[in-house]
Amino acid sequence: MTAPANASRCPVDHAAMAAALKSPTGCPVSARAAAFDPFAPSYQQNPAEVVRWAREEEPVFYSPELGYWVVTRYEDVKAVFRDNLLFSPSVALEKITPATGEVMDILKSYGFAMNRTMVNEDEPDHMARRRLLMDAFMPERLMDYEQPIRDLARKYMDRFVDKGRADLVAEMFYEIPLTIALHFLGVPDEGAEQLRHFAVAHTLNTWGRPTAQEQLEIAHNVGRFWQTAQGILDTMMAKPDGEGWMYDSIRQHHAHPDIVTESYLRSMMMAILAAAHETTSNATANAFMTLLSHREAWEEICAQPALIPNAVEECLRVAGSIIAWRRMATRDTVVGGVEIPKGGKLLLFQASANADASHFEDPDRVDLHRENAVEHLTFGYGAHQCMGKNIGRMQMRIFLEEFVRRLPHIRLVEGQQFDFLSNTSFRGPSALWVQWDPLHNPERLANQAPAVLAKFQIGPPPKDGIARAVVVKDKIAEGEGLYRFVLAAAGTTPLPTWTAGSHIDLIAGGHRRKYSLCGAGAHPGCYEIVVQREEDGRGGSRHFCDTLQPGAEIQLAGPKNLFRIDEAGAHHILLAAGIGITPILAMADRLKALGLPYELHYAGRARQNMALLDRVLKDHAGHATLHIKAEGARMDLPALLQQVDGSTRVYACGPDRLIAELETLAEHWPEAVLRFEHFSTDNAALDPSKEHAFTAELKDSGLTIEVPRHQTLLQALQAAGVDVPCDCGEGLCGACEVQVAGGDIDHRDKVLSKTERQANQRMMACCSRAAGERVVLFL
Ligand code: HEM
Ligand code: FES
Repeated sequence: MTAPANASRCPVDHAAMAAALKSPTGCPVSARAAAFDPFAPSYQQNPAEVVRWAREEEPVFYSPELGYWVVTRYEDVKAVFRDNLLFSPSVALEKITPATGEVMDILKSYGFAMNRTMVNEDEPDHMARRRLLMDAFMPERLMDYEQPIRDLARKYMDRFVDKGRADLVAEMFYEIPLTIALHFLGVPDEGAEQLRHFAVAHTLNTWGRPTAQEQLEIAHNVGRFWQTAQGILDTMMAKPDGEGWMYDSIRQHHAHPDIVTESYLRSMMMAILAAAHETTSNATANAFMTLLSHREAWEEICAQPALIPNAVEECLRVAGSIIAWRRMATRDTVVGGVEIPKGGKLLLFQASANADASHFEDPDRVDLHRENAVEHLTFGYGAHQCMGKNIGRMQMRIFLEEFVRRLPHIRLVEGQQFDFLSNTSFRGPSALWVQWDPLHNPERLANQAPAVLAKFQIGPPPKDGIARAVVVKDKIAEGEGLYRFVLAAAGTTPLPTWTAGSHIDLIAGGHRRKYSLCGAGAHPGCYEIVVQREEDGRGGSRHFCDTLQPGAEIQLAGPKNLFRIDEAGAHHILLAAGIGITPILAMADRLKALGLPYELHYAGRARQNMALLDRVLKDHAGHATLHIKAEGARMDLPALLQQVDGSTRVYACGPDRLIAELETLAEHWPEAVLRFEHFSTDNAALDPSKEHAFTAELKDSGLTIEVPRHQTLLQALQAAGVDVPCDCGEGLCGACEVQVAGGDIDHRDKVLSKTERQANQRMMACCSRAAGERVVLFL
C-alpha cells in the first residue's frame, strides 16, 4: 500500500534504506552498522560503548561510512593481528578519508613522499628491518632512561606543586614524552614547539574525516611537517655518528641499504616523531583521567604503589591511546564467521576487544588487581607489536609514582568536559584539569618530599603483588575432608562479578592454589569455593582446611575464566567427577537461568565424598543424574555420549583419567564440542636438577636465546625483551603459545590435544621445553 501523499512524516524510509545497503560481498548491512560513525563525538567519548551491541550480536560488521569491516571481539582482533601475511598492515597509515586532487597537489608541492615505515611494511621486509633496528628497545638499554624520566617529572612538578591547580596535559604530559622521544631518537629538541601542531595535522590527515576545506589547511601543515622531518634527517645523515635510534637506523641504512632503505628513513622520521610521543602523552592523560575518576582505584595505588605497573596495564585496557588499527585481507577469508574478500579492509577495534566480556571478567570495571590486564591489545599483537611499549610503560609508571608520592590528594576539577580529536585511532583528552590543596602536600607537612615508594622492572608487570584481600566469612563442612569457604571483600570495594567456569587463586600461608567459583549461595557479592583436603598433597589444601577460620584475612587472585560456556550450543552435557563439580555447578546454574537445555552428570565414590550434593539435587532436579560408585552406579561415558553431534557441547571437570577417556572418545568429534578443565599440572613445576639447558632460535627476530635449566622458556624470552603473554603460568590456559618451526618438544601443558602435540607446530612457553638441545620458533 502506498502512503497518502500528505502524510506528515519524513518521506525517506531510513530502515528500508539501511536494509538496501549491502557490503561488497553482497551481505545486507544492519541498521546499527549503517549508523556506525567513528567521527561522531560519542566514538571518542566512549569507544567501547558505541559498539557494545556489535560485540554482543554482530561482532564483525561492514561500515558503509568507512568502507571497512569493523572487528569488535577480542579473539578475532587478536587472530587478525597475529596473521600478518593473511592480513597485511600496508593500510595502517593510509588516509582514511581519501585525498582530493587539490590536497594531493598541496602535498606534492612540499615533496611529501610518505611510504612504508615499519608499522605498515609487509613481510619479509618488515621483519628483516625490525631485527636490525631492535637493539635500542632492549630492556638493558632502556634502563638508561629511568633517571632522566624521573628528573623531568620532578622538574615539571616543581613548577606547579604549590599552585593547587594544573592542566596536566599542557603542563607535563605532553612535553615530557616528547622530550624523551626526541632524546631516544637522537633528534635535537629545538623546534619541538611546532611539532604539536604538526602531529595533530598528521593524525587528522591519516585517521580523521576533515571537510574538503579543512583538508587544505591540514595538507599544508602535513607538508611542513614532512619538510621539517626531512631537514632533521638530512642534518643527522650529514654527521651520522650521534646517539639515538634514528642514528642507529642511519648506520644500519649504510650497512644494509636494501633493508633499511632511504625511503624508509624518510617516512619513518616523520611517522615516529608523532608516534613515539603522542601515544605515550595520550596514554598517560587517559590513565590519570581513569584513575582519578574512579577514586577508589586512585586511593588503592596511593595505599599500595606496588600496584602501579598493573594499574598502567588496566588503564591501557580501559582507556588506551590507540583504540583502532588497520589491516587488509590479502586473499578471500573469513573473520568471526563473516566473509572478507581479498583487498577487504579491516578496522581492528582494540578498545572494543579490550572490553570483551568473553576475555576479561567484569570488563566495565576498573580493576587494578585484574590478573590478565596485560593481555590488552592496545600495543597491537604479533610481529608488529609496538616496539616502544616498554618506554611508554616506564614513563607512565614513573609519572604515577611521582604523583602518588607528592600529590596523592589531587582531584579532577569537577564538571570539566573532556575533548578528544575526532579520528578513528588516537585517543587522549586535550586538557586534564586537576586541583589540590597545597597546604596538604606531603612535602610541606613533613618538610621534605617522601622517598621513592616503588621501583619497577622494565617490561610487563610482575604477577606477584596484585592479589586482592578477602575475608573468610564462613566455613562449612561439605562432606569428608571437604570445606566450603565463603569469601567476602576485605574493604568497601565489592568483589568483581564473574562468569560460570571462572576460578580464583587462593593465597594464604605461603600457598597458592586454584579453585573454581561455585556460586554466592546465600551471600550475594561473595565468592564460594570448595576445598578438598588432600592428605598427600603439597600442603596447600591442608593449610586452608586446617587453619583458615571465619574472620581470617587472606588473598586471592582472579577471577579468571578459562572454561567458558558456549551459549550458542544446542544441548549441553555437563560432566563432573569428585571436586570437579564446582565449576560444573556454576555452569548448570547459568544454563538453567538462560533456559537452555542441559544435563548434569555427577560421579563420586560415595555420598559423603560428594560436595554440594544438596544444591545439585535441589536446584537441578530433573536435569541431574548421580553416578555413585558405592551405590553401584558408575559413569559410563560411551553410553552417555552416544548422541553427541556438532551442536552439542560437552563440559567436563575431574581427574586426569576422566579427561583422558573423554579425549579418546572425542577424537572424531568436531573441535568445538569438548571443553574441559584440569586443575593442576603435575609436571609444570620446574625442577632444575631434572632439566637440561637448551637453545631457542627465534626465526623472525634473528635472536638466539639460551634457556638455562633453572628458567622456563617464557622467562628466558621475557628477559630478552620478547613479550610473550602469560596467564596461568602452568600450562593450563594457552596464553603463552608460541609457534614451533623446528626441534622436538617435550610438551608439559594441558592445552594441546594428542594430535596437536604430534604435529609439533605449537608449544606452551611457560612449561614445555625442548626435548633435545635446540628449538626453533617463529618469534
Ligand atoms: C607500533 C601503540 C609507544 C614505537 C605500534 C602499534 C601500536 C602501538 C598499536 C601497531 C601494532 C601492530 O600493528 O600490531 C603504542 C602505544 C604506545 C606506544 C599505545 C604508548 C602507550 C611507542 C613508543 C615508541 C613506539 C614510545 C618509540 C619510541 C613503535 C614502533 C612500532 C609501533 C617502531 C612499529 C612496530 C612494527 O611494526 O614492527 N605502537 N605505541 N611506540 N610502535 Fe608504538
Ligand atoms: Fe597459561 Fe602458559 S601461561 S599455558
